[in-house]
Amino acid sequence: MKPKAILFDLDGVLTDTAELHYLAWKRLADELGLSFDRQQNEELKGISRTESFEVILRNNGQTDRYGKEEKENMANRKNGYYRELVETLTEKDVLPGIKPLLEEARANGIRMGVASVSHNAVRVLERIGLIDRFDVIADPAKVKRLKPDPEIFLTCADQLGISPAECIGIDDAQAGVESILSAGMYAVGIHVTVTGKAPDLMLASTADLSLSVLMKNFCQKKQTVV
Ligand code: BG6
Repeated sequence: MKPKAILFDLDGVLTDTAELHYLAWKRLADELGLSFDRQQNEELKGISRTESFEVILRNNGQTDRYGKEEKENMANRKNGYYRELVETLTEKDVLPGIKPLLEEARANGIRMGVASVSHNAVRVLERIGLIDRFDVIADPAKVKRLKPDPEIFLTCADQLGISPAECIGIDDAQAGVESILSAGMYAVGIHVTVTGKAPDLMLASTADLSLSVLMKNFCQKKQTVV
């Protein structure tokens, strides 16, 4: 069996928006007198906006400080700060190795999708000039259960009409790796801090990605000749 689709996480795989998320959360945290640093920001990779604010409150021992509506307002305020920063992204912000991989995959008839829980995915893809490169961009608003649940990767595969076993998923967060594995797909981790199930293949950076590396490792696992 050979892979028929590659499904990409966005933040940390196609472009490095973690720093922008950090700056936006930091601005909000400072306004609210909450402590927040880059180490805490690592915990927020791959998890939703509302869940992220819960984590920040929990880390500050202030779980009960706000009601549901207030928490939503705060998360929206952070999103406004983040959207301002997204407008500074350009094509130069595509991570190394990504454009050649997208080109090689396209030339080899492999379908491609984006499986990100970010509601800003479309705008980010427009800013970095990759919006037209994918056959499908999953809409997190239509997904009931976010990562580590497999739903978002499964939705992407379903929209492409390709079985999960023929898909490779690439993510930089533990929640994403678990989502890919639970979907029954081949999981590639990019510099993941592993705290649970390990990906099938771990790479130090997106610069190490290439179609031949993905094909070779996928086929080895499925015991198929490349
Ligand atoms: C993920 C990021 O891709 O998207 C998380 O890793 C972020 O840090 C999540 O919280 C949701 O993003 P957004 O853009 O909808 O706030």
